[in-house]
Amino acid sequence: MLASAQKIIIDTDPGQDDGVAILLALASPELDVIGITTVAGNVPLDLTTKNARIICELANRSDIKIFSGCDKPLKKPLVTAENVHGKTGLDGIELPEPTMPLQPQHAVDFIIETFRNAPEKTITLCTLGPMTNIAQALMKAPDIATRIQKIISMGGGFFEGGNITPSAEFNMFVDPDAAKVVFDAGIDLTVVPLDVTHKALTNAQWIQQLRAFKTSVGEAVASWTDFFERYDKEKYGSAGAPLHDPCVMGYLIRPDLFTGKHINVEIETESPLTAGATVADWWKVTGRTQNAYFLNTIDRDGFFDLLTERLGRYQG
Ligand code: RIB
Ligand code: CA
Repeated sequence: MLASAQKIIIDTDPGQDDGVAILLALASPELDVIGITTVAGNVPLDLTTKNARIICELANRSDIKIFSGCDKPLKKPLVTAENVHGKTGLDGIELPEPTMPLQPQHAVDFIIETFRNAPEKTITLCTLGPMTNIAQALMKAPDIATRIQKIISMGGGFFEGGNITPSAEFNMFVDPDAAKVVFDAGIDLTVVPLDVTHKALTNAQWIQQLRAFKTSVGEAVASWTDFFERYDKEKYGSAGAPLHDPCVMGYLIRPDLFTGKHINVEIETESPLTAGATVADWWKVTGRTQNAYFLNTIDRDGFFDLLTERLGRYQG
């Protein structure tokens, strides 16, 4: 790990794409994963937590501290996505049952304690799922808002609209109330929306590259991709599937591969029709506070070159 490595906490709801994001982070010396917190999202909390342990053991990193978090959104009933990720949330390949320990502390308390004890603005939060844990931490300990270096979140969409409803992306849709708490907290926030991740499409050649590694990580990522591609290909009619969550790590490691704009983004929480929509003032017509750096483009090939090189570092 580099001496200048960025300390990060990954808040996640694995999910195959979360798994690829975690594998990318753990293979990158630019990042120092000081903890993983799990949240209900793609599948219920017991499975997202089990899956986080499976993924860390796949990476041969049973040293990573994993904390289980919130099992339902702040107000709405939990909506999950087994139709995309399968019953286990990591369908596509059979992986060994995890044996690494789960930390006893609740994820929300871990987040609060970590930011209270660390020097100000030295740890970044990467959110890959519904923002419930982060919102609960901010509501329980508002003082940490000024101590968080920045938040990088996969979620939302503007030009790309939504993926679970016409206007809402899954992470924001599941817990729009939590997203509103985070977007209103005045924290340095970068949003990695569908506008970017829908350009980060997998393809058959990439899957072949992964299998050519002849490693357990290569085989797992190839099999996960084969599995979740089937849903996205049918839905979007595209030749591949969007790799949503790994774009968060890609941005942290190589921000030059992305472009965006500092704009105002509000979260719709009331309307039954558009709940979870990220109302992005891309053309700055409202004059509202610019509370987010909202990404819009990705160098797709540069990102996949980075991802493939890093996944290729795993042995065995
Ligand atoms: O909309 C895509 C997001 O929802 C990704 O984070 C995926 O893992 C799911 O959580
Ligand atoms: Ca996710």
